[in-house]
Amino acid sequence: MQEIQPSVIGQDTICAEVEAPPNALVVFGASGDLTRRKLLGSLCQIFKRGLLGEQFYLLGAGRKELSDEKFRQSAQEAIQQRSCNVSVEQIKSFVNKLYYISGDYSDALFYEGIKVRLVELDKKRKVDGAHIFYLAVPPFLYGTIVERLGSSGLSCPNESDVKRQARLIVEKPFGRDLQSAVELNNKISRCFNESQIYRIDHYLGKETVQNILMFRFANAIFEPVWNRNYVDHVQITIAESIGIEHRGGYYDKAGALRDMFQNHTLQMLTLVAMEPPASFEADHIRDEKVKLLRSIRPFKTDGLDKFIVRGQYGAGSIDGADIVGYRAEPGVAPDSKTETFVAAKLFIDNWRWKGVPFYLRTGKRLENKDTEIAITFKKIPHSMFVSAGLADMPPNVLVLQLQPEEGITLSLQAKRPGSKICMGTLNMSFNYRSVFGVDMPQAYERLLLDCMVGDQTLFTRYDCVEIAWQLLTPVLQAWQNDGSAPCEYPAGSESFAEADNLIESDGRKWRKLSEI
Ligand code: BG6
Repeated sequence: MQEIQPSVIGQDTICAEVEAPPNALVVFGASGDLTRRKLLGSLCQIFKRGLLGEQFYLLGAGRKELSDEKFRQSAQEAIQQRSCNVSVEQIKSFVNKLYYISGDYSDALFYEGIKVRLVELDKKRKVDGAHIFYLAVPPFLYGTIVERLGSSGLSCPNESDVKRQARLIVEKPFGRDLQSAVELNNKISRCFNESQIYRIDHYLGKETVQNILMFRFANAIFEPVWNRNYVDHVQITIAESIGIEHRGGYYDKAGALRDMFQNHTLQMLTLVAMEPPASFEADHIRDEKVKLLRSIRPFKTDGLDKFIVRGQYGAGSIDGADIVGYRAEPGVAPDSKTETFVAAKLFIDNWRWKGVPFYLRTGKRLENKDTEIAITFKKIPHSMFVSAGLADMPPNVLVLQLQPEEGITLSLQAKRPGSKICMGTLNMSFNYRSVFGVDMPQAYERLLLDCMVGDQTLFTRYDCVEIAWQLLTPVLQAWQNDGSAPCEYPAGSESFAEADNLIESDGRKWRKLSEI
């Protein structure tokens, strides 16, 4: 295995990191799981990197009654539990920027209170810029909060100074099917313009996901082979060993198709398969993604299981620990038909990809955590080594790995030392951590910072969301109508028979999880 040395990288490195302009972040759901697990730690890292800006402050908004002081204490604990690379002094300075207000999300008075508090804090901290509203609450509250932000005048869509326009960050899933996504979008767009809306898909903030664009479009050597003439098939895998954690109530109503496939998995597909955008500008990239999504062949409900199948984990074991089956998880109905695994075969009907299958899978409680995109190239047309018994050689595979390690590997056939004809697979790989030797920034750091500077490139535009739902809503409906349950797979397995059939009936195989 050969690694690119750090000295080779960096001499011509171009890094454009911009400090956030003065702004205030209002987080709805401030004492909730997302804020504690992801947002506070990420903001603290941005602060540590000196990019948050002196005047920045965060106003936490939630149902729980808390004083500023108590909110700061609990934020400090949450950050300390999860971030090992920030000192207590740094965390303390960061939490001094936090404030809190409690109220009922449906009560107009709550928003009047927020307004008063923002005026007071803006003055105190000299913020004369955007207020960013972050919906870190369960999706059923999105509509209510947005309408109240609109009616209280906090969304200010008509503000002529762009820098002073409010911004709205919406977590996924955006709707639960086509109709609900349309309804939610109608509600939001009555109060915010599209340029104010930042729909988060945190996978887009991951370094290696962003690197797909650099890799494809900043190198000349891959693009000529990135098409149906050279690519045999593509596999996109998002495998998790964790289950639903404490989110049974949410997950049982969502399932893997809504939770992971409609957003993270399809977004990864768009980056790998889209046409080169004219420039690295938000709308140019988003236009290409939309074009790509539009080219995906719709599922036919007749014979659906030849193209998309679902599974649900049963009891099993992972790393020697016993795992309860999905239906025994807290918050899950004992006869739940919610899927925790989806595998699909998609075709993209355009000039570049016609006939190339894209196999996508995502599942929980699998043997390993493994997120990767593997591009398998076609085999060589003729082997000149037949006489040495090498008629059938493995194809080249390019793996863009996102998790657990972030890196890129290209498998090649090469001469091994020894007898005249002795060949084997060699992996040319580079691993972000060993090359750059730093902790990788968390996805939320990138996304929060981008929203503060007003860059929508890594956020999902509404048409993208809608087309993804157009593709998947018939599948959701078919699953609901046929009344059958997903296939059970034991926790800790790699796959299940129906998912295997999907690819094996084409004479191919899923890659082993974490196989490089
Ligand atoms: C979230 C899903 O969007 O992504 C979770 O709601 C999932 O169910 C998580 O566990 C996976 O994210 P990551 O970054 O750990 O791969």
